[in-house]
Amino acid sequence: MLPRQINRRQLLLFGLGAVTGATTVALGQWFRQRRRWLDVGDRTFPIVGQQSLRERAAAKGLLYGAAISYDEITEDAEFVEQLVRECQILTPENELKWSRLRPSPTTYEFAVADEMVAFAQERQMQVRGHALVWHRSLPDWFAETATPDNAEALMREHIETVATRYAGVVHSWDVVNEAILPEHDQPNGMRQTPWLELLGEGFIDLAFRMAREADPQALLFYNDFNLDFAIRQDERKRRAVLALLERLVAQGTPIDGLGIQGHLSGRQVPFFDAEVMRGFLRDVASLGLKIMITEIDVIDKDWPADLATRDRLVAAAYEDYLSVVLEEPAVIGVVSWGLSDRYTWLSSFHPRDDGLPVRPLPLDDTLQPKLAWNAIARAFDHAPPRRL
Ligand code: G3I
Repeated sequence: MLPRQINRRQLLLFGLGAVTGATTVALGQWFRQRRRWLDVGDRTFPIVGQQSLRERAAAKGLLYGAAISYDEITEDAEFVEQLVRECQILTPENELKWSRLRPSPTTYEFAVADEMVAFAQERQMQVRGHALVWHRSLPDWFAETATPDNAEALMREHIETVATRYAGVVHSWDVVNEAILPEHDQPNGMRQTPWLELLGEGFIDLAFRMAREADPQALLFYNDFNLDFAIRQDERKRRAVLALLERLVAQGTPIDGLGIQGHLSGRQVPFFDAEVMRGFLRDVASLGLKIMITEIDVIDKDWPADLATRDRLVAAAYEDYLSVVLEEPAVIGVVSWGLSDRYTWLSSFHPRDDGLPVRPLPLDDTLQPKLAWNAIARAFDHAPPRRL
């Protein structure tokens, strides 16, 4: 008995030692990698020429654009001037979501969305539709109204009404947004959402079929986040999203592409791995799907206060990420989640602890281009041209 007890104790101590040792090594690596990355030194992001981001993207057969809100385009003429210069495609940030379009189960409110779409059309800009099916920004009445018996009809009526209204105008729809979250421990890595509860996983295929019927011309995208870094959370997400895309393609779902949101968190940026990203993009492309970066910005909450350092870090994050992503021929465009630091969801969703304004976007809050602008311009300039 005694020798076995001693052995077990020794084993336990040995195990604890090994775990502690491995953790120390892993932490050491983590800190070294982070420090190495944060040392962006004197990267200067030089650019050649005066062309806008729109023009640089177009020169390679790519689209560049930004998410915008109604107030920005109706109340800020100075901002509109920059928007028109820089962007070829616009995504209404919130105005095509259920909560904005559906005041009640039987009524629609299209005035604001119509105006935004007209704004783009008048300026020969394209529009991304965001989003037909999402678990967030559902109107309050949804929870009381939707049942397993009527959910499919509710979804059909919504998609028919909204996608038909903008058919021929919308370049691409985010048909289903953020349906995967492996941390929810559902089969196939599905996120626990009202749509999943009401209709099962088949809601995704249904939504795409409805969207294709309503607008045969728009490109139809599945859109999601946390697909970017060589960390466990993103690795699980990439695997689950890829498996979803494989199932959809195999069953003939009319899907055209994957939207990678690309909200790049400063904490995770040091763990960008070009090979991992290239492999993922290649896997998606091999399914015959297009890819867009649909919501890129850089979350600078955890980075130094010093503006010069912070702007260099943000720029480095953009260039390192986009230069790899744009190598993949299946990538057709990049949309940033806002154009200027004057207007960004991050000011309220991820503010800095020191109270300084966040600087996640290509233009600063006075609408001047920052190093981030240069970084995006450089990524377009170095991108291989798409075959037209
Ligand atoms: O405009 C109203 C204002 O009138 C009201 O007083 C205030 C009180 O809450 O709310 C304001 O609306 C907010 C809106 O942002 C405009 O600021 C909504 O509450 C808030 O929920 C909404 O958040 C949006 C969020 O999606 C949820 O829909 C963000 O702006 C928007 O940037 C964010 O975008 C998402 C994408 O759709 C999907 N991917 C992630 C991305 C960032 O979270």
